[in-house]
Amino acid sequence: MPASGAVYLSMVLSIASQKGGVGKTTTSISLAAGLAHRGKRVLLIDIDSQANSSKVLVDNFQQLRAEQTIYTTIIDRRPLAVRSSNITNLDIIPSHILLSNTDVKLTTALDHREARLKTQLAAIRPDYEYIIIDCPPALSWLTINAFTASDKVLITVSPGYFELDSIVQISKTIQEVREYFNPQIELAGFLYTMSDPTVNAKTSLRILRQTYTDTVLKTIIPRNTDIRDAHFHKKDIFTFAPQSKSAQAYERLLVELFHL
Ligand SMILES: Nc1ncnc2c1ncn2[C@@H]1O[C@H](COP(=O)(O)OP(=O)(O)OP(=O)(O)O)[C@@H](O)[C@H]1O
Ligand SMILES: [Mg+2]
Repeated sequence: MPASGAVYLSMVLSIASQKGGVGKTTTSISLAAGLAHRGKRVLLIDIDSQANSSKVLVDNFQQLRAEQTIYTTIIDRRPLAVRSSNITNLDIIPSHILLSNTDVKLTTALDHREARLKTQLAAIRPDYEYIIIDCPPALSWLTINAFTASDKVLITVSPGYFELDSIVQISKTIQEVREYFNPQIELAGFLYTMSDPTVNAKTSLRILRQTYTDTVLKTIIPRNTDIRDAHFHKKDIFTFAPQSKSAQAYERLLVELFHL
């Protein structure tokens, strides 16, 4: 909860990609934990019905009811259900499996359905320095809610033709959100994740850099089994394996993105 009455000008950053399994959740947890370990006041919003970051960061996650999660805000337009995570300085708004059929409900809604998160976030934004949103692997109303509430979007990309190809569509969605819902939104960059020494990974990175030039972040996240092990142990990578290649890479990313 808020530190001693301090008021912050927070930065809201969505971590997104409509492609599944490309490191969105891992990057969300790592950035949120890395900032919190540095003493920053951080909030992570899990807006994916798979609730993967909630499963790592919330003790007794399985016992949560929908009213104790982001569901209550997205569906019932109620205040955000903030709780402490298992990391000091990091609060979380967990997700819920019931969020998986939200899109049908939002498609027929007549209010500003794109702004349900943004509207409720306004009340608690000043309590945090950084707010990270872990997005679902889809360009749905949930992702549009995240983008409408965000200052910046970080797009994760992993090696492969389909993975590279997916960038075109998400770039269009950001452009549309900028046009209709949130003129301030900026691209924080493309983050290349799960890189390995294969020819395919090298070729993918070369094409990414040729096509998107300086919007591709310098930091590259290597493929590294310590990440999976950390998730199994419900820990962030800095706590679980501080010397690992992936912890070092996420340290560099914190410096590159936030100049810490
Ligand atoms: N750098 C990495 N090296 C090895 N494994 C990784 C790495 N990053 C993530 N993983 C693993 O790959 C899987 C997918 O990662 P993650 O859940 O972060 O992706 P995601 O984009 O959030 O997936 P989804 O689209 O399903 O939400 C997980 O099992 C995770 O532990
Ligand atoms: Mg995820």
